[in-house]
Amino acid sequence: MTQQQLRIYVPPHPLIQHWLGVARDVATPSVLFRSAITELGRWLTYEAVREWLPTQETTVQTPLATCPATFIDPHMPVAVVPILRAGLGLLEGAQGLLPLASVYHLGLARNEETLEAVCYLNKLPEKFAPETRVLITEPMLATGGSIMVAMEELTQRGVDPALIRIVSVVACPPALQKLAAAYPGLIIYTATIDEILNDQGYIVPGLGDAGDRIFGT
Ligand code: URA
Repeated sequence: MTQQQLRIYVPPHPLIQHWLGVARDVATPSVLFRSAITELGRWLTYEAVREWLPTQETTVQTPLATCPATFIDPHMPVAVVPILRAGLGLLEGAQGLLPLASVYHLGLARNEETLEAVCYLNKLPEKFAPETRVLITEPMLATGGSIMVAMEELTQRGVDPALIRIVSVVACPPALQKLAAAYPGLIIYTATIDEILNDQGYIVPGLGDAGDRIFGT
C-alpha cells in the first residue's frame, strides 16, 4: 500500500508571482493589496480546480456538425469556505471561476495571547451532501490553528478530505506539518512557502497581517 502524503503545489505562474510581489510590498496601499489578493484567489483557484471539478461528456451541435463537448457537471456539489476575515479576500477570484458554488462562511479569530483559533461564526451546513468538493480560502497558513479547526469542522460534517483543496497565499512549515500529520493526501495550492514563523505568529517575510491590509484596518 502506498503511503499518502500532503501535496503542496506552488504554481510557477508569472501572474501568481507578480501579484505575490505586489502583496508582499509594504508600500502597496490597501486598495491595491485587495486587488492583488483577489487576483491570487483567481489564479490559484484556476490551478486548484484542475482534475478536481467534475465534468460530464456530451455532444453539441455547432453551426456545421455535431461534436463531443465537456461541461462542468452541474449536479455535483461544490462549496467554497472562506475563513474570515482574510479568506474573504480570496473569495471574489474563486467565486468568479466557480459561480455555482455554495459559499459557507467560517469566522475564526486568533487569540493573540495563546495564538489559538476561536470560532465566532459558523455557517456550515449540519451535513454536506456526499461527494461535495470544498475549496477553503485562507491566505496565511501560519501556526495552523485556524485551518485545523476548519478541517475538523468540515470532516465532522461528512466532507472527504480527499475532495478538499486549500487555496492560500503564504504557507509556513508549522501549519503544513500539522496538516500533513492529520490529513495525509490533502492538497494545497499556495503562492509561496516561507520558512519562518516569528514569536508573534507572523510569517517572515510574509506579507504582514492579511486581514488588516485587505480591509484597511
Ligand atoms: N496571519 C496573517 O495575517 N499574517 C501572518 O503573517 C500570519 C497570520
